[in-house]
Amino acid sequence: MPVILAIESSCDETSASVCVDGAILSNVIANQTIHELYGGVVPELASRVHQQNIVPAVQQALLNAKVNKNDIDAVAFTRGPGLLGSLLVGVSFAKAFALAKGIPLIDINHMQAHILAHFIAEKKPSFPFLCLTVSGGHTQIVLVKDYFDMEVIGQTLDDAAGEAMDKTSKILGLPYPGGPLIDKNARTGNPDAYKFPEPQIPGFDFSFSGVKTAILYFIRDNVAANPDFIQHNLGDICASVEKRITTILLNKLKRAAEEYDIKDIALAGGVSANTGLREGLTKLGAEKGWNVFIPKFEYCTDNAAMIAIAGYYKYLKGEFAGQEIAPLARMPM
Ligand code: KG4
Ligand code: ZN
Repeated sequence: MPVILAIESSCDETSASVCVDGAILSNVIANQTIHELYGGVVPELASRVHQQNIVPAVQQALLNAKVNKNDIDAVAFTRGPGLLGSLLVGVSFAKAFALAKGIPLIDINHMQAHILAHFIAEKKPSFPFLCLTVSGGHTQIVLVKDYFDMEVIGQTLDDAAGEAMDKTSKILGLPYPGGPLIDKNARTGNPDAYKFPEPQIPGFDFSFSGVKTAILYFIRDNVAANPDFIQHNLGDICASVEKRITTILLNKLKRAAEEYDIKDIALAGGVSANTGLREGLTKLGAEKGWNVFIPKFEYCTDNAAMIAIAGYYKYLKGEFAGQEIAPLARMPM
């Protein structure tokens, strides 16, 4: 019955979770609001806030789980990919904790953990399955052959889907992070009001830079003709942008599922919180006879529960890290 403490600090969320024998007992997430002032995550500020938040987040996670720190069997932590200064805070905390308690360390790949979050739920996908992983930094279609055997079969050649959402919202004058605000405003608009281009990229790769530029020019030209254009059409703009980004993602996923003849299809990463994407995948899955796996909202954006569940499966394999382990800003699957 391993008791695992998990730490996530790869970007701007400081999170701690306790998992006992594969069951998540707590998942504390401290958000950093300071970045709203700057329209994006400022790495130096992120690492400073992680330093302030990490101890209270861990204490709260232990309290919520009703677990004593002396009962922890291993510490799992995000090794990468992410912002180096942010990762360093979590990695250093995990190493110090493990050293003090004489317990092993488990290093986790953040992108694998987003996918393994599906194993928190009772209804779990079967291997091999396909996962569309969409976050602020990544857009990938992953062939998941086993817990830690994953192959990226398609990815973005430029911007990530979340980045496209965030940059659009910035153009619209909305605060960071814009994805949730595009989502909120899209619910009040017509998704067919405006048409943005669908890039023609071979294979299962994606590109969002052309769409982003098309959105930028569209808004610039309309605002030049009518300064109140955004204010009067915010719902329609957000709904149309969301629809285009969603259809780009789902059209590729559909082709990948056909080519690999796989029916267990999962969604992961921060953008999987998006209402239009969740609804679109559910509808497509029903048409195609897929078993669709969509994470609960709290496991979509960055959280330590996904690190804990990944840590649990690595613990079962007996794969541990040594004290010499260092964070990696870039880390392949
Ligand atoms: O996985 P995540 O929390 O952090 C990274 O690893 O990047 O993903 C954050 C991204 C941001 O781009 C954010 O705008 C986007 O996920 N996001 C959303 C929604 N919630 C978060 N995008 C669209 N609709 C949402 N509801
Ligand atoms: Zn993430």
